[in-house]
Amino acid sequence: MCGIVGYVGARPALGIVLDGLRRLEYRGYDSAGVAIVCGDELRTEKRAGKLANLEKALGDERFSAADRGAGSAPGIGDGTTGIGHTRWATHGGPTDRNAHPHVSADGRVAVIHNGIIENFAKLRAEIEADGVEFVSDTDTECVAHLLSAALADLRASGEPEGPQLLAAAMRRVCQRLEGAFTLLAVDAALPDAVVGARRNSPLVVGRGVGENYLASDVSAFIEHTREAVELGQDQVVLITADGIEISDFAGQPATGRDFHIDWDASAAEKGGYDYFMLKEIAEQPQAVADTLLGRLTEAGEIVLDEVRLSDQDLRDVDKIFIVACGTAYHSGLVAKYAIEHWTRIPCEVELASEFRYRDPVLDRSTLVVAISQSGETMDTLMALRHAKEQKARVLAICNTNGSTIPRESDAVLYTHGGPEIAVASTKAFLTQLVACYLIGLHLAQVRGVKYADEVSAVVNQLQEMPDKLRQVLAAIEPVRELAHELRTAPQVLFIGRHVGYPVALEGALKLKELAYMHAEGFAAGELKHGPIALIDQGTPVVCVVPSPAGRGVLHDKIVSNIQEIRARGARTIVIAEEGDEAVVPYADDLIYVPRTPTLLAPLVTTVPLQVLACEIAAARGHDVDQPRNLAKSVTVE
Ligand code: F6R
Repeated sequence: MCGIVGYVGARPALGIVLDGLRRLEYRGYDSAGVAIVCGDELRTEKRAGKLANLEKALGDERFSAADRGAGSAPGIGDGTTGIGHTRWATHGGPTDRNAHPHVSADGRVAVIHNGIIENFAKLRAEIEADGVEFVSDTDTECVAHLLSAALADLRASGEPEGPQLLAAAMRRVCQRLEGAFTLLAVDAALPDAVVGARRNSPLVVGRGVGENYLASDVSAFIEHTREAVELGQDQVVLITADGIEISDFAGQPATGRDFHIDWDASAAEKGGYDYFMLKEIAEQPQAVADTLLGRLTEAGEIVLDEVRLSDQDLRDVDKIFIVACGTAYHSGLVAKYAIEHWTRIPCEVELASEFRYRDPVLDRSTLVVAISQSGETMDTLMALRHAKEQKARVLAICNTNGSTIPRESDAVLYTHGGPEIAVASTKAFLTQLVACYLIGLHLAQVRGVKYADEVSAVVNQLQEMPDKLRQVLAAIEPVRELAHELRTAPQVLFIGRHVGYPVALEGALKLKELAYMHAEGFAAGELKHGPIALIDQGTPVVCVVPSPAGRGVLHDKIVSNIQEIRARGARTIVIAEEGDEAVVPYADDLIYVPRTPTLLAPLVTTVPLQVLACEIAAARGHDVDQPRNLAKSVTVE
């Protein structure tokens, strides 16, 4: 979590850093701060709360003297080297004091950090024993003190003054740190350099002309440059206006991977919608189409060009584990139904945070599929590493090019969802589903399957999904009205069977995280084993009904479940397939979605639940794009 930006060049740094932080605020928004080198002075400002608080504190000072008008004295808005941070608190509450940057005792060195320094207590005790007084509760502050001491040592030992000194000091410090970190630092005595370091947390370099950038992700600098360099694990990078130098922690020169960013800067703007989430929901037909693009041949074959596993490797797979968190985990739950049905390979879905701790049985013929929108989720990354240690093959499904999870996997299938800014995942979920279907179908084709006809039919049906999603969105108005009615409900329950069950879980998760309401998803058949006791007069229950065509038995069973809850007072909100007349007598509210084969149905049934959660949250006055306590990219375990 936490968003990080650094800039060195000829332009005033503060405006560039603040713009970058605005784009990264989805990563955390407990507090924000900046450190700018002005001449040979370090100027910092930091505030608890959202970026707007910091901007308010900076006032007119955030503009350069030239922009403030004749006679204005230069200030923090004039420095051309700077770093900025938007925080999701780990060590130390979200206060002004704990906001980053953290500064060395002499006020000359400033540091920002994303991650957790696991040995910070030991380091802190050691630094305090040397007489340094800490002014925050964070793990990061010890880095500022260590860096300052390392710079002093290097200077005392006669190292020549210059930007290299900052990189050398950072390398020394990194060798002492345990845990996960991206660090950026500036030193007032070295006004034209920013140093960065990364271990297990993301950091990319933006390559400009006469200026360079560092950031947690490319959206921070996409306005200025589309040329980026991805850093490897355990690397230090020094940027100056004209140079980017990368080394490992031991000081050996290293190289990053250059890449071009295809995203349009406008893709990261709201585009006329009230919230990023609504924009991203509306983008789903395109996101699904883009994820399918070039991956289905006219002959009905699946082409997975980034999958660097041979057909023989895939034929050897005798077990699949899907590991993921939150919404991505729900996409894995849907995938299990499809993959097992099409391929007959046993497939388990596990919460990534639990996976490695239960000592799963893995070997060379196990395929682990790691699903992650951000590609940086620490729980998923750790599950992946555990799988690799056990010699399993790892295939990532990811939306973020160049992120850690795909880089460490044996193969990757990118979802082409474009940037997802709202904290609550929407288009990422749908594109993850598409990627899972593609992998299931590909495995089925490579291995030769029982359901060959069904598999080729599904290939065609997948192509129809963008249009079906457009139909869902065109008919969404009643969901908004329903949201308004439900805004004061004390709880909302969700039920489903088969692939409708993960959809119910996803609907409940969306509502919890956005509307802060009690919401739970259940397998409809489980209700009678306990949860039905939650149903009271008027309790809204969203019922995800499968197609009567595909799996008639399931359809009839859930219709019975709907009758059971209605008899106990529930308000039944039924999501069913167009033309399904059987549900009409039992639905207090009925939302039809286009006819879709059962296994693909989550693509259409999820959308009304996303809109429902978004609209209820808005009606309750919540910040839809940045719900409390959350962050977009969860880079701590
Ligand atoms: C919920 C949500 C989260 C993420 C989860 C995994 O709306 O967005 O539950 O799905 O934190 O994130 P990624 O996919 O980036 O690994």
